[in-house]
Amino acid sequence: MNILVTGALGYIGSNTTIKLIESGYKLYLLDNLHNSSIDTLNKIEKITKKKQTFIEADIRDHNEINNILKKYKIETIFHFAGLKSVKESENSPEKYFEVNFEGSKNLIDGLNLQKIKKKIFIFSSSACVYGNPKKLPYKEDHPLSPENAYGKTKLKVELYLKQTSLSNTNWQAIALRYFNPIGAHSSGFLGDNPLNDTPENLMPYISRVALGKLTHLEIFGSDYDTNDGTPVRDYIHIEDLAEGHLAAFNFLKNKKNDVYEEINLGKGKGYSVLELVETFQKINKINIPYEFSKRRLGDISKYYADVEKSKNLLGWKTKKTLEEMCKSSWEFEKKLKENE
Ligand code: NAD
Ligand code: UD1
Repeated sequence: MNILVTGALGYIGSNTTIKLIESGYKLYLLDNLHNSSIDTLNKIEKITKKKQTFIEADIRDHNEINNILKKYKIETIFHFAGLKSVKESENSPEKYFEVNFEGSKNLIDGLNLQKIKKKIFIFSSSACVYGNPKKLPYKEDHPLSPENAYGKTKLKVELYLKQTSLSNTNWQAIALRYFNPIGAHSSGFLGDNPLNDTPENLMPYISRVALGKLTHLEIFGSDYDTNDGTPVRDYIHIEDLAEGHLAAFNFLKNKKNDVYEEINLGKGKGYSVLELVETFQKINKINIPYEFSKRRLGDISKYYADVEKSKNLLGWKTKKTLEEMCKSSWEFEKKLKENE
């Protein structure tokens, strides 16, 4: 089976790539290195002890994508490549449309042209397609109303994937709606390492405060309607998330008929920002100075996943605790520092 992994050197792509290689699959790894480094390829090869085929390419390049799919006779695509900054998406919505939507469309259209019996497409969507919660936990049939340009691109891809897969034959597709992935691979080599100096997301920010690269964490808002006033999210360990992809792939491979599904990948439990900071401090025995500041524009008070569908359909559920997420994030950050 010829499998293409886009965004393979990124945070979620690299961790899933490891699991797929360990399960015996031969992969073609694609990335344009916009938010990753070629060193990640070396780490993947070191961990798995297997040489990989790497293709440096941009998913926006329609002709090149078609050539790659034809040349390697691709039958399955794990599609991680994309831009993920909510803030940047509000400032540059066109760029997000081009990379996240048009790039994905190139892959979906390209796979549709392949003359094969089974076309498998697994797409990295996000919990942000739901928007302001009408009811929690978010079930997959919750109304979809993303609040920002990033979320709108994710929803647009979901709809295009659904339409393409349902109006053509031999399609098996899943949009996986991730909640908040944190943590790192057990080797300590593969984690969330955004290339910008000031990370936007919570865990990379905490880790850099722990290292002393940033002076303190700003907690955006202490007046939310939650247990301690700080926002609540469904944090999921990256290794659990990676295994969720394997479960989705196995589910599709075993199906004889055409399939299109949207499935949450979360733990099904919410933790506040303060709970996360306190857990990080306790398990790693390290102080994280923090200050409260005003709410971040567009932030939602509280959300977490309904995990029944992932359990019933994929036979998958998370195993790792918040403590393990905090510990592995810190191990990863320390290793990065050692290798600087
Ligand atoms: P990441 O930035 O670490 O990885 C994305 C990878 O895609 C990077 O290696 C980057 O170089 C590559 N890329 C970007 N633009 C490209 C292009 N035009 N052509 C080819 N490669 C390109 O991000 P991640 O956290 O691993 O996220 C992976 C996917 O999951 C993204 O689509 C993201 O939107 C989605 N997602 C992430 C989160 C999260 O919290 N990390 C949550 C929900 C959904
Ligand atoms: C957002 C997006 C999500 C996207 C993810 C990764 C929404 C609703 N969610 O998740 O789709 O996939 O980013 O890009 O659009 N926080 C602080 N201080 C910080 C950083 C964060 O207090 O320095 C708080 C935030 O207010 C939030 C929580 O930490 O309550 C988590 O934030 P973050 O890691 O950025 O993820 P989300 O905003 O939940």
